[in-house]
Amino acid sequence: MKSILDGRPALKAEVDKVAEVAGYLWQKGWAERNGGNITVNITEYVDDEIKALPAISEVKQIGVTLPNLKGCYFYCKGTGKRMRDLARWPMDNGSVIRILDDCASYVIVADNPVQPTSELPSHLSLHNYLIGSGTDYKASLHTHPIELVAMSHSPRFLNAKEITRVLWSMIPETLAFAPLALGIVPYEMPSSVKLADATLEQVKNNYDCVLWEKHGVVAVGPDIMQAFDVVDVLNKSANIYMCAKNMGFEPEGMTDEAMREIQDVFCLPKVRPTKK
Ligand code: 13P
Ligand code: ZN
Repeated sequence: MKSILDGRPALKAEVDKVAEVAGYLWQKGWAERNGGNITVNITEYVDDEIKALPAISEVKQIGVTLPNLKGCYFYCKGTGKRMRDLARWPMDNGSVIRILDDCASYVIVADNPVQPTSELPSHLSLHNYLIGSGTDYKASLHTHPIELVAMSHSPRFLNAKEITRVLWSMIPETLAFAPLALGIVPYEMPSSVKLADATLEQVKNNYDCVLWEKHGVVAVGPDIMQAFDVVDVLNKSANIYMCAKNMGFEPEGMTDEAMREIQDVFCLPKVRPTKK
């Protein structure tokens, strides 16, 4: 069967990255059954032939109106689809959608009519904001990282300042490679517009990763690999924290001075960079 990826190596490379990350999510134990979802803004790879593709689904409502997404195209994981299957067959477990001119609805255009993720309102609200704010961020990842979700069961860690400080202080790399961690969203119903709105508020506050209480995280980044890296380093710190607790002590953590030094040496950003 012909695929939208045939003869489009740049688009294929982007979807291949999604498949690679989906495999990591499964290997890490963060993607039970259909857990987690990925969307990537692929509009830059869209040519006239793709623009002319007919819809292969009925028109579907997003649930929110997103003015910056007019005419945009996204690769989306399918709802109910497994990351471990997507890793091998990305176009059977996800699809490409086109946002229609009303900015409130979409159609599927390729390869198969796979219904996008139930968290689409959250993902698309983030993409809408990221475009409007002038970043080159193209990817949004939702996953269920075990140690971070475990921490979200403690009221102490449902405080963005406190959980970020503890995670940054576990290992220098976390501060260096997740300098815009970690916002908090108190529990909301999965796939609800309330959850989408609360997540968007945190991303507007310059958090690149947002912890959903007793559920998972959402991370945004320039591409899906970089969004994954942010979750990976944060969860590594959460794991180190728990290992120390399992050994029977509260980990000391790096000093504030040591963390300030890393901030200075690496000139770490405090806000999300925008395109020049
Ligand atoms: P989907 O299968 O609809 O993507 O949902 C998975 C999930 O993690 C919901 O929060
Ligand atoms: Zn989820």
